[in-house]
Formats: sequence, structure tokens, C-alpha cells
Amino acid sequence: MPVDLTGPLMASFRRAKKAYEKALAEGDYETARRKALECARILKQLAKHDPYGRSSYLAKARKWEDLAKGLEEGRIPKREVKVTSEGTDEDELRTYVMGLIARSNVKWGDIGGLEDVKRLLMETVVVSALQRPEAVQPWKGVLLFGPPGTGKTLLASAAAGSLNATFFSVKASNVLSKYFGESAKIISALYEVAREKAPSIVFVDEVDALTTRRSGETSEASRRMLSTFLAELDGFQDKGSDVLVLTLAATNTPWDLDEAVLSRFPRRIYVPLPDEKATKEIIKINTRGLDISRLDLDAIAEESVRRLYSGRDIKNLCQEAVWNMIREENRDLHKLAELPYEELKKRSLRTRPLEMRDFEEAFKKIKSPLTRRDVERYEKWAEEFGG
Ligand SMILES: Nc1ncnc2c1ncn2[C@@H]1O[C@H](COP(=O)(O)OP(=O)(O)O)[C@@H](O)[C@H]1O
Ligand SMILES: [Mg+2]
Repeated sequence: MPVDLTGPLMASFRRAKKAYEKALAEGDYETARRKALECARILKQLAKHDPYGRSSYLAKARKWEDLAKGLEEGRIPKREVKVTSEGTDEDELRTYVMGLIARSNVKWGDIGGLEDVKRLLMETVVVSALQRPEAVQPWKGVLLFGPPGTGKTLLASAAAGSLNATFFSVKASNVLSKYFGESAKIISALYEVAREKAPSIVFVDEVDALTTRRSGETSEASRRMLSTFLAELDGFQDKGSDVLVLTLAATNTPWDLDEAVLSRFPRRIYVPLPDEKATKEIIKINTRGLDISRLDLDAIAEESVRRLYSGRDIKNLCQEAVWNMIREENRDLHKLAELPYEELKKRSLRTRPLEMRDFEEAFKKIKSPLTRRDVERYEKWAEEFGG
């Protein structure tokens, strides 16, 4: 009979999870990242030992891997907060809100193309920081709209990074699903903390999730959350006040937004698919450190634009191409998996200049979800409501 390892594995999982939480609380994100990976590893072993729980263990393992990846990229996960029957107390709400603070080390230079959008955001950010006459008021809320993967999140991160602002990153649907009845309180707590920690940028992703048009009927909870959000956008930032709290909202479906939301975002910026020039910049950003002198960038860019690639698609394209090159140059790579980590650290990957054939293969793998008609819909909305 096989030995049942579930018990000891669970125990080591609990230990790793505890260590992760401790590291997170102490702000030791490197340890937290390693512990998260350990949690994922143990869960994968559990999946092997328990065929019934397999898919659930694997799903959990993936979550831990995502957490670790997030930490590596500077996203600090929110801690779970329990909602008690008497409601969540204020400290817990604040703890949750503190967990929404993300570090941002994105620079304007990491964004290819989007010159106008960048300029506008830079102006907004700069004006709000400068001494200025009372009549000059910076925008309080800016809406970024456009197809998925075009750099909306990236732009918000760069704005925060350049200002060295406290960056709150909120996904409307997350707050709603986690808090439901209390989501309005979260919004109030969020803006309270944002004002305390100003300059702040509050990035509300998927803002369309809050509005009525999308689902037809919205719950009481999301209605209250929306009205609190709108009130915050209306209310604070008294004339002449130095406190900068800029709200950036993003949506892939601007046509779902209703009048109430639109009116709070007089500044609506279209973040379009990259053109050929922007595409070339994004390719350069995503092949840094490699020799690209043999590539016909014009041809690659032309093909990308023809295929309606977003920035994210181009990034994935580059990644595929780079891997094609790496695999070709390091045929026995997978065999090294037997070696201990310390041994691996001593070796280095073989590389060569990127070739067109690496990209030709990569193109086969990357498909844009968009059609011409989708793009036209964005353009039409931009023409009618953008500005
Ligand atoms: N204009 C761009 N310049 C450089 N990279 C981009 C650009 N647009 C998208 N990307 C890449 O695609 C990824 C996803 O972009 P993101 O900002 O999350 O898109 P959105 O928020 O619009 O859906 C980014 O992390 C980045 O790697
Ligand atoms: Mg995004």
C-alpha cells in the first residue's frame, strides 16, 4: 500500500503559508515570493497524492504561482479580510485598502508609442504637482479606454511611478465579489487612505463593471459602490488644496458606461492599437539585451498591424520568437532540469542574434481576439465621446 503523505504535506504547506504571511506582513517580499512558490510546489505534490482533490490542488497551486509572479513584478497581494456578521470593522477595511497599494517601477520609457496619451498624462500629473493659480485645476479623473492589452494599466503605473505617488490598484469586480455589501465602505476607506498618502493615483480597472448598462440590472451593492465612487470624484480636492488624488479609470468596453460615470470623466483618452512606429518601439522594449540587427523590423511591424496586434500580443510575439531562438541554441535545455540549482547558476544560456525565421514561427502562435469591426467600434466611440 502506498504511504499516505497527505498529512505531512499539509503540515508543511501550513508552515510555508505561515512563513509567507509573516514575510508579507514584514514587507520582505523576496521571502514572501519564495514561500509562495514553496506553497505551489507542495500543492502540486498533494495533487499527485490525492487524485480526488487533484484539480482543486492544481488550481490553488496556480494561484500561488500567480502571487509569486505578482510579487516579482512588484504587485503586492491584498490580504484576505473576513467579513463578520456585524460587518467588517474599520481597521480591517483599512488593512484591505493598504493591501491595494502596489509598487510601481514602470517608466514612461517602457511604453512604446502612445505619444499623445503619454503627453496628456504627464501634463495632468505635472500640473497637479506644481504651484499654480487657483483657476488652474488639474483633472481629477481621467478615463482610459481601448482594446484589451493596449497599455492602459501600464500607463497608470507609469504615471504613478513618475510622480512617486502612492499607487492604488483596484479592480471593480474584485471589490464587489469579495465585499459585496461593504464595497461602498471600501471605496470611502480607499479615498481616505489615498488622501492621507497623497500624492496618490487610484487606478480603477474594469470601471464598466460598476455601471448599470452592462448587466441590465445591478445589485444594490454595486449601486451603492458606484454612488460612493462618484461622490468621491465629485467631492474632495477642495479648491487650492495641495492634496493630489488622481483617479484613473480603465475600460475595454466604454459603450457600457452610463452618463453618471461619463460626466465625472470629462477627460477620456483613447488608447488605440499600436501603429507601425509604436509596434517597432514595443518590439525593441521587449527584446532588450538581444541582437536584433538582422531583423526587418518594418516587415514585422507591418504584419503585426495587419493582424490587429495589441501591445500585449506584440510582447507575446517577441517572447515566442526569443524562445524559438533559445531552444534552437540550447537543444538539451530540458535535460539540465536534473541539475541542482547551485550548479545551474554557474552556467549561462547560449544566445544568437534574432532572425526573421524566429518571428515567422512566432506569428503562427499569436492570434488577436479583435476583428476590424471591433476596432471600428472603438474608433466610432472615440470620435463621439472621446476627448
Ligand atoms: N504601448 C505599449 N508599450 C509597451 N508594452 C505594452 C504596450 N501595450 C501593452 N504592452 C504590454 O502588454 C502588457 C499588457 O498591457 P496592459 O497595460 O495590461 O493592457 P491593458 O491594461 O490596456 O489591457 C503590458 O504589461 C506590456 O508588457
Ligand atoms: Mg489592464
